[in-house]
Amino acid sequence: MNRFAFIIHPIEPEDVARKFPFARWLPVSWVERLASGLPPLVASEITGVRSATGAETAGWFVAVPLSSRLFLELPEGRVMSKIVGAARLAERLGAQIVGLGAMTSVVGDAGVTVARQVRIPVTTGNSYTVATALEGVAWAADRLGYDLHSLPIAVLGGTGSIGSACARILARQGYDLVLAARRREKLEALRERIKAETGREVAVTTSVSQALRQAGAVIAVTSALDALIEPRDLRPGAIVCDVARPRNVSRQVVEARDDVLVFEGGAVQVPGAVDFGLDFGFPPGQSYACMAETMILALEGRLEAFSLGRELEVEKVEEIAHLARKHGFRLAGLRSFERALTDEELDRVAERARAARRGARVAVQVAGAVTGLPAGQMDGPQAGQAVGQPEPSGRVLATLGTESLDSP
Ligand SMILES: NC(=O)c1ccc[n+]([C@@H]2O[C@H](COP(=O)([O-])OP(=O)(O)OC[C@H]3O[C@@H](n4cnc5c(N)ncnc54)[C@H](OP(=O)(O)O)[C@@H]3O)[C@@H](O)[C@H]2O)c1
Repeated sequence: MNRFAFIIHPIEPEDVARKFPFARWLPVSWVERLASGLPPLVASEITGVRSATGAETAGWFVAVPLSSRLFLELPEGRVMSKIVGAARLAERLGAQIVGLGAMTSVVGDAGVTVARQVRIPVTTGNSYTVATALEGVAWAADRLGYDLHSLPIAVLGGTGSIGSACARILARQGYDLVLAARRREKLEALRERIKAETGREVAVTTSVSQALRQAGAVIAVTSALDALIEPRDLRPGAIVCDVARPRNVSRQVVEARDDVLVFEGGAVQVPGAVDFGLDFGFPPGQSYACMAETMILALEGRLEAFSLGRELEVEKVEEIAHLARKHGFRLAGLRSFERALTDEELDRVAERARAARRGARVAVQVAGAVTGLPAGQMDGPQAGQAVGQPEPSGRVLATLGTESLDSP
């Protein structure tokens, strides 16, 4: 049996309290400081992962005790030495492959430096994260009866490792896109690349809110520490897949916008009677896609640096999606802010989303009649235009398949 390890860290202060309940009573800054002085440690043992093929794997969560904020604020050298320390601990434990979770794959060069300093292969898990984000968006649109071709899809963090792979795949599939990030030169380079690869023009912007105002669906995958998506930014009936950890979507969105579907990208049902030995906020048996990639590679005996560095290969995204299905991994039901969305809730959102889109369309038509402009001219994919969109029609064609999603 091949064994794996996965490097994690506390994403929110509550994550520390889940493992050490006394931390709940301490100020967050104390918890952060106390934890950051600790060396990497074994957080738990993972048992019971059993593939549909009968293969088995087991492993460990190894924790780097730094909060998301400290990953970005401490000197990079100090952060990297903690991650390398964790990877070496994984090697000493007997892991034959190690995965990098959340910020441990965002800082530095997305695993390349870590991989040079250990003898076992390192993977970021980002290929399977891309596959599950795309699959989740396609499934959610289908469930809500929304045609993803009717308006641009926004990718926030579109120039990042996960975001750029999402964008390149969606462009190949013929979707209109608007990509947002802070650095314009990287956005322009990606725009050129996508044009060369697909012949398609994509819109780019350094303004997240401009991107959101154009988009019918959103994949949020920035490395920002604070929420970027507020209720007022989203179009009527928008679908938002929040892949980022920490989250990109403000909790107020679900409180203030009952016409909008927000769900967490990358929640995966793991095959077998898996016991993670640790509560990371998911129901039993479910993991993040990046964790799942490491398990899939261990089960398949592909002990290699499958996803390493910022540049992901589209073919590998397809391959890991195929291997996931082979071993019985599948997208878990949609979750929002640590809660599974029920069928009834999805029906309600679908209804309100339809009504909101219809209302917006009528508003645009009325405004068009008043101003003398045709409605279409006010509803195009340019940044900063009036909110409003055509009634969605048709079903979604998802190259990566939607059949594997469980109902919650
Ligand atoms: N759910 C899962 O299973 C899973 C798995 C792996 C990773 N993740 C999460 O996914 C996120 C992205 O990971 P990654 O490896 O793709 O990171 P990355 O390669 O560093 O990319 C981050 C992207 O975000 C942009 N960005 C950062 N701050 C921004 C801001 N304030 N406004 C707009 N854009 C901003 C960056 O561009 P600029 O710097 O130019 O702005 C870049 O495009 C992280 O939160 C990570 O924890 C989730």
